[in-house]
Amino acid sequence: MQVITQVNTLRETMQALRCSGKSIGFVPTMGALHEGHLQLLRASVKDNDITVCSIFVNPTQFNNAEDFKLYPRTLEEDIVQLQTTGCDYLFAPTPDDVYPQHTMLQFSFGKLEQVMEGEHRPGHFNGVATIVGKLFHMVQPHKAYFGQKDLQQVAIVRQLIFGLGFNVELVCHPTVREANGLAMSSRNKRLNKEQLVTAVSLYEALQLAKSQLKYKSQESIKEAVADYLRQKPEVTLEYFEIANPLTLQPIESIADAREVALCIAAHVGPVRLIDNLVVNLS
Ligand code: PAJ
Repeated sequence: MQVITQVNTLRETMQALRCSGKSIGFVPTMGALHEGHLQLLRASVKDNDITVCSIFVNPTQFNNAEDFKLYPRTLEEDIVQLQTTGCDYLFAPTPDDVYPQHTMLQFSFGKLEQVMEGEHRPGHFNGVATIVGKLFHMVQPHKAYFGQKDLQQVAIVRQLIFGLGFNVELVCHPTVREANGLAMSSRNKRLNKEQLVTAVSLYEALQLAKSQLKYKSQESIKEAVADYLRQKPEVTLEYFEIANPLTLQPIESIADAREVALCIAAHVGPVRLIDNLVVNLS
């Protein structure tokens, strides 16, 4: 695997590969890699001639300076893990190379960014769209791999591709979980032993909600989720929503929905975690 740190080198390398007819798969990440990331990479290696991974802790998508500062950075270990996947190129640039000037770009994703992560993390999706757009230009991939774990991010990237006409196929990979159901996340590395055990309660709350979908109202399901998490030490629920999996808008009635996304965000100790389940009701 070749490690590239300069934007220009990346552009030239990718351009040459494209011209020689190679198909390029791209997995953008912020590093602190875990099995969730590695599965995206393996899917890309299987589908494409060339796989590119980026590791860049993108400052513009953090609405909380402390979160940016404490975000785990484990480049050496990441490289070792990447080498096991068959990934061909790692792009690991510096912030100055990616953002030589302050960007003033403002995206608007309408209602999509007014709910859940958009509502609770102002500016977050603007930063995500900015970096993903920049990376798409630099890598020019045929396919790009994103995780269902960040369902709203997938919807934002879908709109970005559609809105700006990127010639990229978006692949959404299922959420990879620990044996107990906890969604893998780089932020799990910041949890202590007890918090790591408690964190599974987000998944348990989603399963509880799923089991009640067919016979309870939205309000009572939301209450049941809140009640369940209230009993868990160090867990503070931020939101639980029942939404349309594509638009992420709240659904009007469970009875009329064919598919719903159960989406949750909560703090476990000092760490904010998200998770979701997409449930087919037909
Ligand atoms: P990061 O959190 O590192 O995630 C990189 C990719 O891995 C995202 O598409 C994310 O959804 C996916 N992923 C994370 N945990 C996963 C899991 N348990 N199962 C399946 N996929 C998982 O998301 C970002 O970085 C950034 O916002 C980025 C897109 C790189 C832009 O900066």
